[in-house]
Amino acid sequence: MRQGHGRPAIYRNHPTGMNGSRKVHIKSFGCQMNVYDSHRMADTLAPAGFAETAAPEDADLVILNTCHIREKAAEKVYSELGRIRVLKQAAARQGRRVVVAVAGCVAQAEGEEIIRRAPAVDLVVGPQSYHRLPDLLVRVGRGEAVIDTEFPLEDKFELLAPPSRAATRARGVSAFVTVQEGCDKFCTFCVVPYTRGAELSRPVANIVAEVERLADAGVREVTLIGQNVNAYHGEGPHGRPWPLGRLLHRVAEVPGIARLRYTTSHPRDMEPSLIAAHRELPSLMPYLHLPVQSGSDRVLAAMNRRHTRADYLDTIARMRAARHDMAFSSDFIVGFPGESEEDFGATLALVEEVGYAGAFSFKYSPRPGTPAAEMAAQVPDGVKSERLYRLQAAIDKHQAAFNARCVGRTLDVLFEKPGRHPGQLVGRSPYLQPVQVMAAPSMIGEIAAVTITEISANSLFGALAPVPAHGQAAALASEASGQRGNSKVRAHSASEDARERADDTRPEPGSSAHAALASEASGQRGNSKVRAPDTRPEPGSSAHAALAEVEG
Ligand code: 5AD
Ligand code: SF4
Repeated sequence: MRQGHGRPAIYRNHPTGMNGSRKVHIKSFGCQMNVYDSHRMADTLAPAGFAETAAPEDADLVILNTCHIREKAAEKVYSELGRIRVLKQAAARQGRRVVVAVAGCVAQAEGEEIIRRAPAVDLVVGPQSYHRLPDLLVRVGRGEAVIDTEFPLEDKFELLAPPSRAATRARGVSAFVTVQEGCDKFCTFCVVPYTRGAELSRPVANIVAEVERLADAGVREVTLIGQNVNAYHGEGPHGRPWPLGRLLHRVAEVPGIARLRYTTSHPRDMEPSLIAAHRELPSLMPYLHLPVQSGSDRVLAAMNRRHTRADYLDTIARMRAARHDMAFSSDFIVGFPGESEEDFGATLALVEEVGYAGAFSFKYSPRPGTPAAEMAAQVPDGVKSERLYRLQAAIDKHQAAFNARCVGRTLDVLFEKPGRHPGQLVGRSPYLQPVQVMAAPSMIGEIAAVTITEISANSLFGALAPVPAHGQAAALASEASGQRGNSKVRAHSASEDARERADDTRPEPGSSAHAALASEASGQRGNSKVRAPDTRPEPGSSAHAALAEVEG
């Protein structure tokens, strides 16, 4: 193996080849699924004696959980590896060995190429092999450079260790649960079907057991995640497949779970029972991330999206008919090969028509091995940048309007953690907006009605409302949307209120469970925030992270 021969004594006794007080630092890039996977890797390493550390310089094992969705995301990994090599060398000078692992979709896609490019890497492990980590580390401890990018037959989910109660508590009151992985859609721009493989849905019983365990440790909100989550078709209790709507009904019955979300959905799989679940389940939040990618039928066909603009708009209308206070976010790609100014104009028009509460937008990034990368008529980068700028301005305008409409409203807020200032807590509205409120720390994990008094670029501010939020939904609803029509008010829960559309101010770095939101990626998620060249957040961001990135 590359790195040294005689291992320092510290690694000699433990089966992983490491010993003493072992610490692991895991850094997630990309989507919420990577955040979930990082937690499960930490849970699986805990019984082998690894405690998590937020400080890479203290770690004996550093894992980068990577994203391959766009070139920029993949390149970030190599810059990070440059920094880690320096840490590793500094530790070696003190006689301490640091093991470096690359996990996630870059690991799957690039395999041993990673070690060629970054020889400080000891282990490359694809997303389907995380349950094997303890064994793989034993091999690394013996001096092998290990690469495992197989798609094994065994059920990884059931072999990964569950989180301890303490670990769950530390991760906050909102949690992700992967219910589906992989994708069979093969959009022509996307690497996911290659890196995550074919669609696989977990059985209902296993998901319910995981949610029960989370609820028992204090989790109040669960986001069911999958690359194509609404293609879910896991085995039900009697052996027949259940669709996502039915699974949501079952998860809603778990005591303690007050809020449900799911992401990321494909427009084509928004089937009637799932739409009906939004009408039937008060705990299902009225905010849906429904990526459209483009507003042009010509481009949608070239992307192999399997839906038209009209199909998409019809789905949005059916969702709004099911629940008047639905709000939507989306992903967009600008500069797909062959996209003309007219095609792009159709995307801008779609943004106006739907009135998104937020959205992520990206410049098309050719990915090796995908059909679109080979297409003629690649769009010059300057044109992509200019379109991205215009699109983000349109999205921002709608997001700001959505937020502005929240002022004076009373929204249900799930309190997650201390806020920016002493005495404040920050929570999330039904639309994933962060809301800062003066409230006692004992309210973390509670849902309370909050009257919104003010907005800033990234947050709402509010005060605990004297009465439950029920009942304002009608008002919200009717005002809000000029077009969306349907203002029927359903009778139910408090969470209803705020709903009108959401905005989502996406996450902020460092936030919570959702950090992931990210979607994929990058950076922020503040959705429409202009951050170039794309708008996604990065793991570790906030709660919202959730939204995003798991593709779609
Ligand atoms: N280039 C740019 N954006 C992409 N996405 C996926 N693949 C690419 C690509 N090759 C975006 C899509 C998807 C989101 C997760 O990332 O908008 O919904
Ligand atoms: Fe699948 Fe979404 Fe990628 Fe399309 S964009 S191939 S639906 S993961």
